[in-house]
Formats: sequence, structure tokens, C-alpha cells
Amino acid sequence: MRELGRRLAKLLRAGDLVMLSGELGAGKTTLTRGLGEGLGVRGAVTSPTFVIARVHPSLGSGPPLVHVDAYRLSGGLDDMEDLDLDVSLPDSVIVVEWGEGKVEELTDDRLQLRIDRAVGDTADEVRHVTLTGVGTRWAEADMSVLAG
Ligand SMILES: Nc1ncnc2c1ncn2[C@@H]1O[C@H](COP(=O)(O)OP(=O)(O)O)[C@@H](O)[C@H]1O
Ligand SMILES: [Mg+2]
Repeated sequence: MRELGRRLAKLLRAGDLVMLSGELGAGKTTLTRGLGEGLGVRGAVTSPTFVIARVHPSLGSGPPLVHVDAYRLSGGLDDMEDLDLDVSLPDSVIVVEWGEGKVEELTDDRLQLRIDRAVGDTADEVRHVTLTGVGTRWAEADMSVLAG
């Protein structure tokens, strides 16, 4: 998942919204860690206990990574308003865990990743990731870099 995040970073640019879904422990934060490495941003990507959004500035000239864990936010975009994600999005890559029904209105385009754990007791480290691109931004994106 970390390596997938590193590869996915190559596709991302300022203005991109990535939504991650999957049960607790699926690997959303692990993937975001790889994204942060791939984007070359400052600070370790962690699972925030109290912090809902954390900004990781670029160490180079790229966009900052805004990592949002919306688990504790119950409402819709209204609850998100204080985070000013709409203000930061044009200049940032925003990755949201648990954002379904909360952040879709931010933009017409988004990349959704659904992470599923493989079923079966011998393969519990295996993850299946389904990517869904929404909007024109993702219609022609070359996803082949993800295959390595
Ligand atoms: N293939 C894998 N991908 C991602 N995480 C894995 C994998 N195998 C084991 N893990 C473990 O599962 C946990 C995933 O946690 P985390 O990324 O915080 O999930 P989430 O943010 O979805 O709750 C980590 O402890 C990680 O080490
Ligand atoms: Mg997490």
C-alpha cells in the first residue's frame, strides 16, 4: 500500500482530491504515508488522534499534502467548512479518509480508492484496491504507472 501510494503520487497535482475508503486497518493511512513520500512532503503521515486535518508542506516545489481523517466528523460539508478545504484545494493535494458523503461537493473531480482486505485466513496481508475516477480530470489519466 505504501508503494502504491508512492506511485500514485506521480499522477497527482495541485487541485486533486483523493478519497480513501475501507474498514479500520485497511491501509488508508499507510497508502497516504507513501503518497507523502512520493510527493516529497515534510513530516510523517500518521493516524491523527485529535487532529482532523494536517498539512504537510512540500520539501521541494510541489504542492502540499493535506491529510484529512474525517472519521470524527459526522455532518456533511458544513462540518468541514472550518477546515477551509475549498480554500486550500486549488494549491494542494487533498487526501481524505472516511470522507464519503462529506467532501464530494468540494470539486467535480475526484479519485476514489476503495481498499478491501482479501477474504481468507492465509491472505490477510493482501489488499484489493479499486480505483474510480470521477470527472474529466480522471477521464484520460494514465493509470499504468500504478502497475509499476
Ligand atoms: N498489505 C497491507 N497494506 C496496508 N496495511 C497493511 C498491509 N498488511 C498489513 N498491514 C497493516 O495494517 C495496518 C493498516 O493500518 P492503517 O494504514 O492505519 O489503516 P487505516 O488508515 O485504513 O485504518 C497497519 O498496521 C499495517 O502495518
Ligand atoms: Mg487511518
